[in-house]
Amino acid sequence: MERTLVLLKPDAVQRGLIGKILGRFEDKGLKIVGLKLRKFPAALLEQHYAAHKERPFFKNLVKFMGSGPVVALALEGKDAIEVTRKLMGKTNARQAEPGTIRGDLGMSFSNNLVHGSDSAEAAKTELALFFPGAEETVAWEPANLGWIYSVEEELR
Ligand code: RTP
Ligand code: MG
Repeated sequence: MERTLVLLKPDAVQRGLIGKILGRFEDKGLKIVGLKLRKFPAALLEQHYAAHKERPFFKNLVKFMGSGPVVALALEGKDAIEVTRKLMGKTNARQAEPGTIRGDLGMSFSNNLVHGSDSAEAAKTELALFFPGAEETVAWEPANLGWIYSVEEELR
């Protein structure tokens, strides 16, 4: 099992799409192991997007991410990082495929509703940043786990 960090960005919250987007991840079978709504400080957001520090959009990106409440999710599942990125769709929501979160719900490159970690290293760093305390995530077993996955082939 793998864990990944997802953020529902300020546009998702302001547009009243928290439930709908959360539902996409739940419906897929990804397990929510951490969930919080916060207005995150600029320093944390700068750290989160440190890889883009030299990019021209960095300042606006950090400003946007700090402009309102954000929902942070820790999700767990087999290949959770790749599965989550696929569910999100392309960065530019206008080019994202129908059926993806961005493709179905967005029209913008910058206001693109969701963030998802793009590698195992990023997931590790980002989860530590947004869920630093051991008690902030919960290891639990969904009652239907053996129906989401093949017990014989995938859970042994
Ligand atoms: P994210 O990090 O938010 O999950 O998005 P991503 O992996 O799909 O895209 P990434 O390349 O990591 O870029 C991070 C965020 O910066 C904004 N961006 N704007 N105007 C631009 O050229 C531009 N490029 C990137 C987007 O909000 C993107 O999600
Ligand atoms: Mg990214």
